[in-house]
Amino acid sequence: MNKYNFDTVIDRRGTAAVKYEGLDAVFGRHDVSPMWIADLDFAVCPDIVNGLRRRLDHPILGYYACPDTYWDAVRTWLSDRHAMKVEREEMTFIPGVVRGIAYCVNFRTKPGDKVIIQPPVYHPFRLVVEGNKREVVENPLRFDGEHYSMDLDHLAEVIEREKPRLMILCNPHNPIGLQWDRDTLARVASLCRKGGVTVVSDEIHGDLMLYNRRHIPYIEASDDARATGIMLGAPSKTFNIPGLVSSWMIIKNEELRRDFYQWLEVNEFSAPMMISAVGAEEAYRHGRNWLDEMLRYVEGNLEFACDYVERNIPGVKIIRPEASFLVWVDFRGLKLCQKELMNLLLDKAHIAMNDGTMFGSQGEGFARLNIGCPRSVLADALEHIKTAVEAVCPCTAENQK
Ligand SMILES: Cc1ncc(COP(=O)(O)O)c(C=O)c1O
Repeated sequence: MNKYNFDTVIDRRGTAAVKYEGLDAVFGRHDVSPMWIADLDFAVCPDIVNGLRRRLDHPILGYYACPDTYWDAVRTWLSDRHAMKVEREEMTFIPGVVRGIAYCVNFRTKPGDKVIIQPPVYHPFRLVVEGNKREVVENPLRFDGEHYSMDLDHLAEVIEREKPRLMILCNPHNPIGLQWDRDTLARVASLCRKGGVTVVSDEIHGDLMLYNRRHIPYIEASDDARATGIMLGAPSKTFNIPGLVSSWMIIKNEELRRDFYQWLEVNEFSAPMMISAVGAEEAYRHGRNWLDEMLRYVEGNLEFACDYVERNIPGVKIIRPEASFLVWVDFRGLKLCQKELMNLLLDKAHIAMNDGTMFGSQGEGFARLNIGCPRSVLADALEHIKTAVEAVCPCTAENQK
């Protein structure tokens, strides 16, 4: 018997939710179903809200010192969920994972230095690097038309040729939802250690493994990984609390972390906000069952979507994610250019999905669908896509019959 209800459609208008209020700015219209930015349309675990309320019942909101109980909660979570043993001094608070990446780029590299990313990948990786006047070097994922994998031979060449200082790894990989296995991570680590490359591993989706897969944190993959790795994680995707802006960083290698953590501290980049830490602690302490039920619900949505698309939308394929609630959809069979595809989704299907090319030119012909919503909303969206595809590509629909 489930305790939480993920079927309820919750009206988020008037809450300054980017997913809704940002539609006009990003898509030029707001009369569309928002299935883009990566938060969930589910109510959070009530313990989180109750914990925040309890704190707000006290009338003074003064300067805040993060208590040991917060760090105990994070470390217990990492130990229970990922079998990670982390010492307190190896960890620091970070106000958001993208900011964490930005701190790494600023502290570990100089303008003009090269940073590896693996497109198609979460777009801020490129924005942060280029916005700080560093240079992106690409190690694109390999794609055989069905599956993605990491191109380790090309990675070796890139490290040898370009002499990058940093690599930003997405583990698991957004937008594909791909899990990296231990062997792949260990090989990345070995190449990076040899080439003097520090690896920033963004593991914000690491708690969201589907079908009971085990997440492998980069710094757990090997000694080389521990030596080269900076791990970034957060309860934000896990418990649907990105608005609380609560993240953390782990560096096992003392030499790598000493000056860096000091730099973060003197600049007060690592000072926790009260609301972030209180919410995160409640989530880590009490959110386990909510998370497990939420993941089962998302798996149900994924099965529903795969089945629906396969039966009803010819020319469209879902690349099955191994983690998270974001689905990489292959529309190449429709033979539309990217602009036509996005117009079809937006103007004909009335769905706001992320344009595949925002994650890199390799995303041409793709779009990303957020299935972290009540099943009825997903069902409507898929039906709209089906109708739009039938109207625009009747021959593809005919062929299927
Ligand atoms: C891979 C990845 N990293 C980071 C973020 C954003 O993290 P934050 O809001 O903590 O900056 C996202 C959000 O979608 C993401 O997918």
